Amino acid sequence: MKTKITEMFGIQHPIIQGGMHYVGYAELAAAVSNAGGLGIITGLTQRTAADLANEIAKCKKLTDKPFGVNLTFLPVVDAPDYPGYIKAIIEGGVKIVETAGRSPEKYMPELKAAGIKIIHKCTSVRHALKAEKIGCDAVSVDGFECGGHPGEDDIPNMILLPRAFQDLKIPFVASGGIGTASQFVAALAMGAEGINMGTRFVATKEAPVHQNVKDAIVKASELDTRLVMRGLRNTERVLNNSTVEKLMVIEAEKGKDVTFEDVAPYVAGVYGKVMKNGELEAGAWSCGMVAGLINDIPTCKELIDRLMTEAEDIIKNRLNKML
Ligand SMILES: Cc1cc2nc3c(=O)[nH]c(=O)nc-3n(C[C@H](O)[C@H](O)[C@H](O)COP(=O)(O)O)c2cc1C
Repeated sequence: MKTKITEMFGIQHPIIQGGMHYVGYAELAAAVSNAGGLGIITGLTQRTAADLANEIAKCKKLTDKPFGVNLTFLPVVDAPDYPGYIKAIIEGGVKIVETAGRSPEKYMPELKAAGIKIIHKCTSVRHALKAEKIGCDAVSVDGFECGGHPGEDDIPNMILLPRAFQDLKIPFVASGGIGTASQFVAALAMGAEGINMGTRFVATKEAPVHQNVKDAIVKASELDTRLVMRGLRNTERVLNNSTVEKLMVIEAEKGKDVTFEDVAPYVAGVYGKVMKNGELEAGAWSCGMVAGLINDIPTCKELIDRLMTEAEDIIKNRLNKML
């Protein structure tokens, strides 16, 4: 399949693995890229810029295909060493960066000067248009269904994608809630040039996370995610568990007065415990509604090959026969 995204990034299939905290290590990024998609290393999971440089070097040993690095701009006072991470990306020869969170505007000149393509992930058409205006090459449009941070507008992809198609000039991929070929084809029909998946890639053989996490995603239905941190305007879609239920009680009690200190015991420092040790109840961790459509733990190649074969079948046979 040839789309503006496969051309832009020099990849075989228009399928991207979004940056994921404590999941997007070199092993997963390389497996996705080797399968013809675009794997992405999560920058901030690496504690320092030097660690990121090592992770990039490791990924280069595992694949000779293009891969990217995710830079998530967090709304925090003590900002991570973004200039250091960007230096590691440039010196490591990485040519694709997925930005997310806040606008990457401040770092655009440096990234552009290094010949890096920037795909900004955002949850609204207005933010996508801003990304286009500041020179991003593409956007990843993340619908309300997504695992992680869906923003505060609550617009699902059935509306968000056609809206993006109406207004955007740069290419976009559909992100959030996708795990099957029928959704992939629907996203293309709505104007996307490819897809970005998070949760679906966590439940793969190569994802370097504890088996408990993968099994929990397979077991979960579409009813099993919850939204936390709404009161802080930092909404996160997470898999429900006993700790999330306690957090939701506290959030309901505090209402509009909720502070980060109130929620911190349930959300801070959780990912290592969950992803590495398999302590599923350690706190709130991101997971999308697509968990309800995930019933197996394939290799990245099996997953991507299946999506491509089935998508082709849907387009050539099911849809074409309707004409
Ligand atoms: C466990 C997990 C961790 C994530 N961490 C990040 C992150 O650090 N930075 C980021 O930009 N997106 C993060 N995301 C969002 C994904 O990159 C992607 O946009 C999202 O998962 C798409 O929705 P889906 O899960 O329905 O496919 C995370 C998602 C998950 C499931």
